[in-house]
Amino acid sequence: MTETAGDTTTAEGRRFPPPPELAAHANVGPEVYEEAARDRLGFWAEAARRLTWTQDWDEVLDWSNPPFAKWFVGGKLNVAYNCVDRHVEDGHGDQVAYHWEGEPGDTRTITYAQLKDEVCKAANALLELGVQAGDRVAIYLPMIPEAVISMLACARIGAVHMVVFGGFSADALASRITDAGAVLVITSDGGYRRGAPSALKPAVDDAVDRTEGVRNVIVVKRTGEEVAWNEGRDLWWDDVVERQSTEHEPESFDAEHPLYIMYTSGTTAKPKGILHTSGGYLTQVAYTHWATFDLKADDDVFWTAADVGWVTGHSYIVYGPLANRATSVMYEGTPETPHRGRWWEIVEKYGVTILYTAPTVIRTFMKWGEDIPAKFDLSSLRVLGSVGEPINPEAWLWYHEHIGGGRCPIVDTWWQTETGAHMITPLPGVTTLKPGSAQRPFPGISAKVVDDEGNELEKDATGLLVLTEPWPSMLRTIWGDDDRYVETYWSRFGTSVYFAGDGAKVDEDGDIWLLGRVDDVMNVSGHRISTTEVESSLVGHATVAEAAVVGASDPTTGQGIVAFVILRGNVTEEEASGDELVQRLRTHVAKDIGPIAKPRQIMVVQELPKTRSGKIMRRLLRDIAENRDLGDVTTLTDSSVMDMIKDKLPAAPSED
Ligand code: WT7
Repeated sequence: MTETAGDTTTAEGRRFPPPPELAAHANVGPEVYEEAARDRLGFWAEAARRLTWTQDWDEVLDWSNPPFAKWFVGGKLNVAYNCVDRHVEDGHGDQVAYHWEGEPGDTRTITYAQLKDEVCKAANALLELGVQAGDRVAIYLPMIPEAVISMLACARIGAVHMVVFGGFSADALASRITDAGAVLVITSDGGYRRGAPSALKPAVDDAVDRTEGVRNVIVVKRTGEEVAWNEGRDLWWDDVVERQSTEHEPESFDAEHPLYIMYTSGTTAKPKGILHTSGGYLTQVAYTHWATFDLKADDDVFWTAADVGWVTGHSYIVYGPLANRATSVMYEGTPETPHRGRWWEIVEKYGVTILYTAPTVIRTFMKWGEDIPAKFDLSSLRVLGSVGEPINPEAWLWYHEHIGGGRCPIVDTWWQTETGAHMITPLPGVTTLKPGSAQRPFPGISAKVVDDEGNELEKDATGLLVLTEPWPSMLRTIWGDDDRYVETYWSRFGTSVYFAGDGAKVDEDGDIWLLGRVDDVMNVSGHRISTTEVESSLVGHATVAEAAVVGASDPTTGQGIVAFVILRGNVTEEEASGDELVQRLRTHVAKDIGPIAKPRQIMVVQELPKTRSGKIMRRLLRDIAENRDLGDVTTLTDSSVMDMIKDKLPAAPSED
């Protein structure tokens, strides 16, 4: 990719036009924006026609009772048929659906024909166990093919799956089973993590003991470790699924039939069960997967390096790629097992062409050093993606150069569990990229930045991100709680404006820059400063690997900026412990953003508290900065991280 002139003194000032080769053959060109703007519903109807429907819809959208939307009213389809059977019927049964790679190095190759057989067998097993359309099935599995097979088996018979990330505790699983009213759980003896088997079944036993309504637990054998057994309730996958017929006639379901519930790792005590339905969801995940990544079903090897336990996995490991007949990589383990080059080894081995991951992982790779990916052949890559948080321009440039070899566009995709699919993103064959910006609403999506009163802001202004038109893959409600649905998302600016909870800035070109959750936007002496902006500046310093910034209440300025930083490996112990480096970093930020952004305190730490999806838990850091009680830390990957951080706390904040 050639670089155009811009303000090249800053990382975000650099510009990257689409590679001409890619643009010439891209699935979508610039005209798609105008087409969608001219006839939004017609645009989505056309996207829906990429799927196979057994009954046509009467109306594209029923928005007569906002915020309760109905898409493709009266239409019928089977989601699993669309993801699997139709590709086999079209003569692509031998195409690989998944190159699965276990952490210990074992592999499985699953073609579309094999996937169809497996899904039918699992669907027949569920039916035999009395699972009916509309019933909820909890899935608590590692990253193994049975996770995908189970999801599709549910979809095939109209059961609603509720996947709980395997890293969650028995507590979290129990509360989700209860809230969703699950009748069956699919789990495994365990999975592999960091080179060792890690058990899952004990958490299920514990959770099911504390809940009512679960009749059966299906257990996949993965590690071969011993498990406790509840006769009559527990069934081995190999016993109940393997003997089933590979024939199952898919039934058609209404476009609005519930497909799945996904609980969000919310900041409040009770998790929200986000409900997604069938026709609209599949339409938008399939179309965005095809357009945002420029997916070519015959040539690409696509890899979303995330867990199926999150929405990213649902939409871009399972439903989007399968609906598009993609060949995907699925990897069970962690990036550093058995060595820090594992991902790049996988890219080389399978010839991955499109890689989709999160900024936090990219920064970890940065910390480990570019010499690691440099040892592998990454020349197959042609498009890179980012999701989960704003990507700081330095990480963007590192990803672009050291992973993408300077030739791959990076699509920075903004979306949420609630939106189901990409909402704001560049398009790889169309957009001139700006490192750090998600840039433009996807065609057919209406996103705006507004002030506190809901007035649209246009050029060079900061405000709140809202979505002003319904979209096909939008959440339909919070499971069992319509009031909370209305209250959380659709009350701030009226019942037809979706409040995303993110701060955003529109620049002079109209491009959107996400600034983090609004509760993470600090107010220092009446100035609005994004935690992300300060983090980005810190990470831009040669000594900093990772940074988390919070606004701690301050008697004089309203909020004071407190930063927690992890230093790079090249910093000596002596440098790290002294005050000199911290002062240098404060000055660096002040110079980078402005004196107003100079952190009040900077603490050097070894680890940052993160949720299992890799998001920094700023709430906890804020509590430390303000010395409050810690509250609930059960969603942390490692609660000892907090102790380590607390140990580093200076007795009193440094002044000036
Ligand atoms: C929140 C949603 C979308 C799947 C993974 C996260 C943040 C997500 C971006 C991005 C800036 C982003 C937002 C959003 N976010 N992607 N490209 N740029 N921020 O799903 O757990 O529902 O979190 O993640 O703050 O609101 P989620």
